[in-house]
Amino acid sequence: MPPPEFTIAPVAPAGPGLALVGVGPGDPELLTVAAVRAIAAADLVAYPVAREGGEGMAAAIAAPWITPSQRRLPLLFPMTEAVEPRRLAWRAAADSLAAAVAEGLAVVLLCEGDVSLFATSSYVLLALRRFHPACPVRLVPGISAVAAAAAAASWPLALQREALMIRPTPEQPADLEALLDQAAAAGVVLALLKLGARWGWVRPLLERRGLLEQALFARRVGWPDQRIASAASVAGGEAPYFALLLIRQGWPAVLPED
Ligand SMILES: C[S@@+](CC[C@H](N)C(=O)[O-])C[C@H]1O[C@@H](n2cnc3c(N)ncnc32)[C@H](O)[C@@H]1O
Repeated sequence: MPPPEFTIAPVAPAGPGLALVGVGPGDPELLTVAAVRAIAAADLVAYPVAREGGEGMAAAIAAPWITPSQRRLPLLFPMTEAVEPRRLAWRAAADSLAAAVAEGLAVVLLCEGDVSLFATSSYVLLALRRFHPACPVRLVPGISAVAAAAAAASWPLALQREALMIRPTPEQPADLEALLDQAAAAGVVLALLKLGARWGWVRPLLERRGLLEQALFARRVGWPDQRIASAASVAGGEAPYFALLLIRQGWPAVLPED
């Protein structure tokens, strides 16, 4: 019997409501069909910016899928650890988005990578639930930078009984040492985000432990200047915010034979 024909449903008609849309890590080809459709159906495309007048990473990734006739709404999320400015920004974003939905608009909020993984859109979702519980919201998952980095490097993320831990890079060397010990003992593959300047001390630490060769360094995955390499080949001073490490300290016993 021939396989059933795969048909794609027509683009959903625009209607009021908010979609939080994951746009993947950088390459506009890595948006899902659902993401492209949600953007196409939107009257208003909202996206995070770190400063007034900034372009916004998610908007840059989705640019080929946004038309000039669509309204745009940059939402300011300052890059700060301070509590109050962040809370105010999440609340202000939720208020603006809910107001647009109440006007009867179909709205999308673009989010770099996946919408649920260390994502600004998660805070916006929580603020909406708290302050605008009647606002209809749906989430469109996206390809995370971790998945894209593993694919770009042909790197198995987790096999058999292994675990995968995705987390920010620890702040202190002692914490990373402890994490590596636990991961080695328990068969956990580590994906360390928010590498940034920590690479300056992470690199020598991995070198001391003999882990540099089997760790994968991925910077700006999906962008034209992406760098995917063995961590051993990356110099100490080279890690911007959009970089991550994948660290595998062992392999399962049963693998295809050589
Ligand atoms: C706030 S988290 C956002 C994660 C995102 N929501 C996802 O699903 O991938 C930001 C961190 O993710 C990682 N990251 C995001 N995009 C990346 C990319 N294109 N290349 C490498 N790392 C990336 C970096 O470690 C960065 O510090």
